[in-house]
Amino acid sequence: MKGGVWVRRGCAAGWGLGRVTLAIAVATATASLGGLPGPAPLADDEDDVVEVVEASRGLAPGVLEQLAGAFDEEELRRALRFSPLPPPPPDPTNAVGDDPRAARLGQRLFFDTALSGNGEVSCATCHQAELGFGDGRPLSRGLDDVARHAPTLWNVAYQRWFFWDGRRDTLWSQALVPIEHPKEMGGDRVATVHHLAGDPRLAAAYEELFGALPDTRALPAHGRPVPDDDDHPHGFLRPDDAEVPEHGHDDHPHQLGWDQLDAEQRLAVDQVFANVGKALAAYQRRLVSRRAPFDVFVEGLRTGDAARLAALDAPAQRGLRIFLNSHCHLCHSGPAFSDFEFHDARFPPLDPTAPDDLGRWGGVPDLVGNPFRGDGPFSDAPGLPESAKAGYLLDGAGLPDHDSRYQFKTPGLRNVATSPPYGHQGSLPDLAAVITHYSTLSDAPPLKGHVERFFVPAGLVPEERADLRAFLESLTDTDIDAEWLAPPR
Ligand code: HEC
Ligand code: HEC
Repeated sequence: MKGGVWVRRGCAAGWGLGRVTLAIAVATATASLGGLPGPAPLADDEDDVVEVVEASRGLAPGVLEQLAGAFDEEELRRALRFSPLPPPPPDPTNAVGDDPRAARLGQRLFFDTALSGNGEVSCATCHQAELGFGDGRPLSRGLDDVARHAPTLWNVAYQRWFFWDGRRDTLWSQALVPIEHPKEMGGDRVATVHHLAGDPRLAAAYEELFGALPDTRALPAHGRPVPDDDDHPHGFLRPDDAEVPEHGHDDHPHQLGWDQLDAEQRLAVDQVFANVGKALAAYQRRLVSRRAPFDVFVEGLRTGDAARLAALDAPAQRGLRIFLNSHCHLCHSGPAFSDFEFHDARFPPLDPTAPDDLGRWGGVPDLVGNPFRGDGPFSDAPGLPESAKAGYLLDGAGLPDHDSRYQFKTPGLRNVATSPPYGHQGSLPDLAAVITHYSTLSDAPPLKGHVERFFVPAGLVPEERADLRAFLESLTDTDIDAEWLAPPR
């Protein structure tokens, strides 16, 4: 932010996006997102600049009266805590996280099906912009069906933990999982190095950022360390009943390739692989949504500007009140509408006869044992306390917290209307179903884990449910420079 204004589209300062493209971006972005509702237009929209409304500014005098008693003062003060969303927090473990060149390389890789084992699957297969960066399916499908729902990537840069079960602690180490997962992309890290080295454009972009690629002539075509639970669905392992699959991956062709490498070659391959993750993270850090009609409304609360207060219609305002007075805001807290923590919100399983998904309980050991951790050798800031968050997760006996069973990460709610279905298995088809779930808990599975004491049925009547939905829909701002939504030319 500078000079008392902030650039609205293409967004945060330092991203190096020229303002010249902005006006065009508005039209094309909306078109390519299939006509999803954009934010309410503002009077000064043409300039693409709006007055800064400082987050520190409190309620404007008289705003309570302007809203004609729809809220009390405490409710409005609470509403201020949800907006504006600041720029994404820096990621010290990724030195290129905010480097525009890395974002471009990451963008190319995001749409690149050559990273997959069969040459047909890319990140964008399951994270499609027009489907809210999800895939619209309950359970995701790559080379095979996977056991969880693809979450949105909007505002993923604000998260602390990644995956529904938090089994990665950085955005860059997350990206390495789907590339090698046999049911997602089925690729491998040695083939990834060959792909970069074999494509002059990718190689040049890579080497400009990270230095020379290793000599690939000495490498086998494929190779990765194949874990014991390779094609077992994540989080379904039960650490207590020792239902660990037999070893049987020693003769996997990827393992045989990996076995051919010496320690130095493995390190070089892992370094390239980590850098691929860092470029993919730099791209995903651009997928930010910060100025939905709700944010315009909060600007109205701080300025008293009647036009901005009108950004939320009466049902959405009533829905906001419900949100602020029920338990929703205790977990979906702060401007990203997430506490970035894990809870059992008692979402129903997609298939009640399938084995339980233990969520966070399975994610913790997977994270702790992972070499690409934020405090590991491939991190750019292994010594910083914020990189070492994974180290605090196990109790004295080396086990995850017992209460973490059945817990899943609190998703952010910005743009939530654009990415049905919902929950870790996509078992709730639309927002109405989610709200009915919270209202009654009549679809909740039998209680097996730890549930917070405040987590009781919200008891909303049908009119209130419709209002709450209108509020959730007012969190939509899919306005993003269209050039990020396809592979770079
Ligand atoms: C086969 C479909 C599929 C592909 C391909 C895929 N993903 Fe995902 N993605 C998922 C699913 C499913 C999850 C949730 C899995 C879980 O939590 O266990 C997920 C989770 C994520 C998350 C975590 C988001 C959060 O809030 O925690 C990120 C980030 C992500 N994917 C990025 C990527 C990137 C980058 C690629 C390409 C390298 C990719 N995905 C490829 C399906 C896919
Ligand atoms: C105890 C913490 C908690 C409370 C209270 C809570 N949520 Fe959630 N919410 C979560 C968690 C955790 C999930 C993911 C659940 C899962 O996947 O099993 C979630 C998922 C959601 C989703 C689906 C998002 C997606 O991308 O799949 C929506 C929408 C939602 N909550 C809205 C609400 C509303 C509205 C309320 C209040 C009526 C509420 N939540 C109360 C923690 C909470």
